[in-house]
Amino acid sequence: MRSAKTLAGRIPQHFINDLIDRADIVSVIDERVTLKKTGKNYSGLCPFHDEKTPSFSVSPDKQFFHCFGCQESGTVLTFLMKYERLEFVEAVEMLARDMGMEVPREQGRGPVVKVDEDLYTVLEQAERFYRNQLRGASTAVDYLKGRGLTGEIARDFGIGYAPAEWHGVGEALTNERISEEKLLTAGLLTKNDKGRVYDRFRDRIMFPIRDTRGRVIAFGGRILSQDGGPKYLNSPETPIFFKAQELYGLYEARKALRNIEELLVVEGYMDVVALAQNGIVNAVATLGTATGEAHFKKLYRYADRVVCCFDGDKAGRSAAWRALESALPVLNEHRQLKFAFLPDGEDPDSLIRTQGQSAFQGFIDNAVPALEFLLSRLADGLDLATLDGRAKFIGLASPYVEKITPGVLRDLVQARVRDLGGMAQPLQRSKPSFRRPNPQQAQRTQELPQRMAEILLRLPSLWQELSDEQRQDLQLHAAELGVFGVLVQLVQQHPEADSEEILVRWQGLPGFDDIQQLAQRQSLLDSAGQQKAFFEGIERMLKRRKGRPQVAEIRARVAASSSQVAPEQPDVDTDFDPFDELATDSDDYSDEEFPI
Ligand code: UTP
Ligand code: MN
Repeated sequence: MRSAKTLAGRIPQHFINDLIDRADIVSVIDERVTLKKTGKNYSGLCPFHDEKTPSFSVSPDKQFFHCFGCQESGTVLTFLMKYERLEFVEAVEMLARDMGMEVPREQGRGPVVKVDEDLYTVLEQAERFYRNQLRGASTAVDYLKGRGLTGEIARDFGIGYAPAEWHGVGEALTNERISEEKLLTAGLLTKNDKGRVYDRFRDRIMFPIRDTRGRVIAFGGRILSQDGGPKYLNSPETPIFFKAQELYGLYEARKALRNIEELLVVEGYMDVVALAQNGIVNAVATLGTATGEAHFKKLYRYADRVVCCFDGDKAGRSAAWRALESALPVLNEHRQLKFAFLPDGEDPDSLIRTQGQSAFQGFIDNAVPALEFLLSRLADGLDLATLDGRAKFIGLASPYVEKITPGVLRDLVQARVRDLGGMAQPLQRSKPSFRRPNPQQAQRTQELPQRMAEILLRLPSLWQELSDEQRQDLQLHAAELGVFGVLVQLVQQHPEADSEEILVRWQGLPGFDDIQQLAQRQSLLDSAGQQKAFFEGIERMLKRRKGRPQVAEIRARVAASSSQVAPEQPDVDTDFDPFDELATDSDDYSDEEFPI
């Protein structure tokens, strides 16, 4: 590698600006300091002074860091200089190397070739041209109306029209004294074998593709007529457009939502726009490529939850599989990934227009956690009841587990794989965190709640489907319900959390060992069966608890006789179910030991 010192030439300023633009300050810092998403920004413990509570904040929007404790602040380069103790030029070299860019040097006094900034201006002018053209183009306007779009949405996305001419945008912009060369570099013009230069986009609906700052960096054009080339034509890669990193609609989503909690990834431009038209403004699309690692990095910079929508057919499933493989290195316990599979032959655009917003939302709500998808696909066709099947399963799963960055999430997945493969450690008895007056009785007392916990952990959204009264009753009895009681509190406090998130939040609370064991059990029922069992179980549980002494009263009684073993109570239920709990006061633990 060339050393900075031996090279006399200056690094052009535009390169430095460009480098700061392209490097993501959050990921650069995150490689060195543990950051946590807090609203729009990220925060962590400041690496530049000693502190116990985080006052170090990184803003992806401003591409800037700031410490409220020691007042250090600056760009990604300032950070690298301080953190890695580098000179400015060394920091530039280091960052450029990480980004796979070569640092250019100015030779002598010649002018610096300043390509990049100009391209943005050119594309902005082209966008304006296409938008103006749309006004006079009734076929194009009718087409958009026919697809259910209003002028307002077309304006929000800057949708335009490229006229059916060979020299439309080319002529308009050369008239503005922009060189043909530049228009070629910008991808607006193209050159054929014979050297003839003409408009790349003709008779197409134009979708401007923006970077996260809102600058137009490329276009996607949809054909209007039946013939004449591919349905969609995109700008080629240019010095400012890297297809595999961009997400159509991300800028618009960020503009519409102050804080994005969840991002939907769909396939097409029209899907993004049609969803926005129907009130779902958090969708983005890749540009005709698979959702890759760079996309996921970008997605999780702006939201903790990502739902990818795929066709329900075979192609959709293999697309989901590819997406999953790219996502694994980016996932962790704070980042959730789900897959929604749409009915065969439908895309989000057609679905929301024919079935409406709530039907579409239903598919999103039923999305499958990606890791569940992973394990069930791996287990597909294997008989996990046989040693051979289990060995194969573990063999297949290991390389995927290893792709996950080491940490809580990887441990959880690993534990689950080992359990499904039958290689879990022999069940260790969890620490006796709950006092059990009589082990056998306590076990039976907790049997129904435990089964409910097992199901609810797997399908946390069932909580929302209980009646208000049921939810209140369960919360009232939470202290008597062991792990189920803790779970009830967690799903109540975090209604959006999925199984993984719940497990992560559970750490440090009572019953964590128990719930981990429950989490690893495999259900014999399908999800409809589990739902049914859940609702019936809850009803039974609540029916039996009615007419019992109030919780406070029980607590008082237990406190008064805490060392005594509760007497076995006769079973008075007529519909006795051997898997069910015994009717009992079931105060298995005191407040200090079970502080929820
Ligand atoms: P689709 O063909 O599924 O597009 O391609 P769509 O959005 O449903 O199109 P409509 O509804 O017929 O208008 C999805 C995406 O794949 C890329 C584009 O990015 C498109 O949005 N694509 C598709 C191309 O790049 N070229 C093509 O010829 C087709
Ligand atoms: Mn479509």
